[in-house]
Amino acid sequence: MKREISMDTAELLYENWQGQFDTFSHMEFACAIPQSLFLISTLKENGLPNLCFHSWSCFGGDEGGYFAVMQNISHTSHTYENIVRDGEFCINFISADYYPNCIATIVDNSNDCDEFASGHFTPEKSVKVKVPHLKQAFMSLECQLACNVDLSRKGISSMIIGRVLHASIEEKYIEGVDLRYGQQGFMFNIHEPADFATGQLKDTHVAALEVLGSYPEMKNKPMK
Ligand SMILES: Cc1cc2nc3c(=O)[nH]c(=O)nc-3n(C[C@H](O)[C@H](O)[C@H](O)COP(=O)(O)O)c2cc1C
Repeated sequence: MKREISMDTAELLYENWQGQFDTFSHMEFACAIPQSLFLISTLKENGLPNLCFHSWSCFGGDEGGYFAVMQNISHTSHTYENIVRDGEFCINFISADYYPNCIATIVDNSNDCDEFASGHFTPEKSVKVKVPHLKQAFMSLECQLACNVDLSRKGISSMIIGRVLHASIEEKYIEGVDLRYGQQGFMFNIHEPADFATGQLKDTHVAALEVLGSYPEMKNKPMK
């Protein structure tokens, strides 16, 4: 049996805080699709480095370029302001070991705060953009703003698309695949998944990937 969920059925779910289903669609919690988690680095207007812990994204491209698509960058964030002003940013993938450091960059988030310092991160010079990336990141993507669209037209958040200009990848992470796709690799956000039995949203969880097999191994398995 399947549960049918329309855009009108938010009343089946309870917000954890007032206005939660305005800031996020209730579908976010009904579907609770895991999203990779990373830090966006930008520069504040005063030149201090800024970090934003971010999920909701996808990556892809063709011969004409490789693009980082980030839905839902909040219009009230420094990151949005910095990207719109400077037209550039870096995406930094770090392992879940750094989760508390990422949260520290949210707690201390003022204009006069060096957020690399508050997260105990080390800045590393980028190749194509002024914004520094993180030494602790196993992969950083230097991006130029390509597109800024307010998908819901509510003035709450924007989909920001960055054209990737350069990537820096830690060598031991590209020798084989184990590190990138294990507990020391990409980190994922499971955002308050809804329990429809009670209507409550559960805690946010943090996840990493478990590789199940190679393409040849998987395609040769007996069909279900
Ligand atoms: C797990 C997690 C994921 C987050 N994902 C996003 C996101 O995708 N977009 C966003 O705008 N804020 C997101 N946030 C909130 C920002 O990290 C937070 O508002 C931050 O302080 C913004 O920093 P800034 O004002 O320096 O840009 C997330 C927070 C957490 C804890």
